[in-house]
Amino acid sequence: MASIGIMDSGVGGLSVMREIVKIIPDADCIYFADNAYCPYGEKAPEFILSRCRAVTDMMLSEGVQAMVLACNTATAAAINQLRQTYGIPFVGMEPAIKPAALMTRSGTVGVLATAGTLKGSKYQGTKHRIEGSVRIVECVGRGFVELVEACEFSGDHAEKVVAASLQPLLDAGADTIVLGCTHYPFLLDTMRKIAPEGTRFIDPAPAVASHLLDVLVGNGIDPKSGSGSRKFLCSGPENALKRLAGTIFNTDNISRSDV
Ligand code: DGL
Repeated sequence: MASIGIMDSGVGGLSVMREIVKIIPDADCIYFADNAYCPYGEKAPEFILSRCRAVTDMMLSEGVQAMVLACNTATAAAINQLRQTYGIPFVGMEPAIKPAALMTRSGTVGVLATAGTLKGSKYQGTKHRIEGSVRIVECVGRGFVELVEACEFSGDHAEKVVAASLQPLLDAGADTIVLGCTHYPFLLDTMRKIAPEGTRFIDPAPAVASHLLDVLVGNGIDPKSGSGSRKFLCSGPENALKRLAGTIFNTDNISRSDV
C-alpha cells in the first residue's frame, strides 16, 4: 500500500499535499503540522532536525513508506541527515530559481523565503551557479507564515504585511517571483493585487508532486496501491488545520498529536 508522510511547521505544506493528491490520488497520506513550534524560519537547524526525526519516527510507526518535507526550511536544515538515518526515501522542497531563471524577461528573479532557507547551502549553491545569467534578489517573507497560520489570507493588514517584503523585489525589477516557502502560495491572491500585471509567481509544488511519483515508482512502491485515505495531525492548536485541510480536502479527520 502506498503510504506517504507529509510534514511542515504548520499548514503551509497543504499547498504541496494538494498537488500530491491530484496526481497520486490513491496514496494513503498522513499530514503533520508541527505548529506547536511554528515558525521554523529562524530556528536552529539542529532543533528543526530533532523535530523532523520525532515526526518521522511517528510516521514510520504508522507505516509510511516515503516522507515529504513539505517545508523549504526543514529541507535546508535536515534532509541530508534524515536520508542518512532512515531507510525510506525523503522528498524535499527547494526554491525554484532554475525554472524562474528561464522564465524571466526582465533578467531579475525575486525570491521570497524564510531566513533559514536563504542561508541553506543547497540554495546558496544553486544560486551561485545561476547568478550571472540572471540577477537574483531575495527577501524574507516577514510575517507571511503568521498570516497563513491565522487563516488571514487577504484584507488591508495582510496586504500591508505582504507588500513590505514583496515590493522591494518588484522595485528591484523582478518580474518572476519564486515562492520559496510552502505557506506563501496561500497568499497568492494578495500578492497578485500588489504586483504589476504579468508578474509570474513560481510555486514548485506541482514539480515536487511529480518528483514524488517518480521516487515512489523508483523505490518499487505502487502509487495506485493505497486506499486514498487522509489523516491530519498537529502538535499545536487545530484551528488552522481544521479550516484549511477541511476546505481543501473536505475532511474532519484532524487531531492533536503529542509528538
Ligand atoms: N512552510 C515552511 C517553509 O516552506 C516553514 C515556514 C516557517 O515555519 O517559518 O519554509
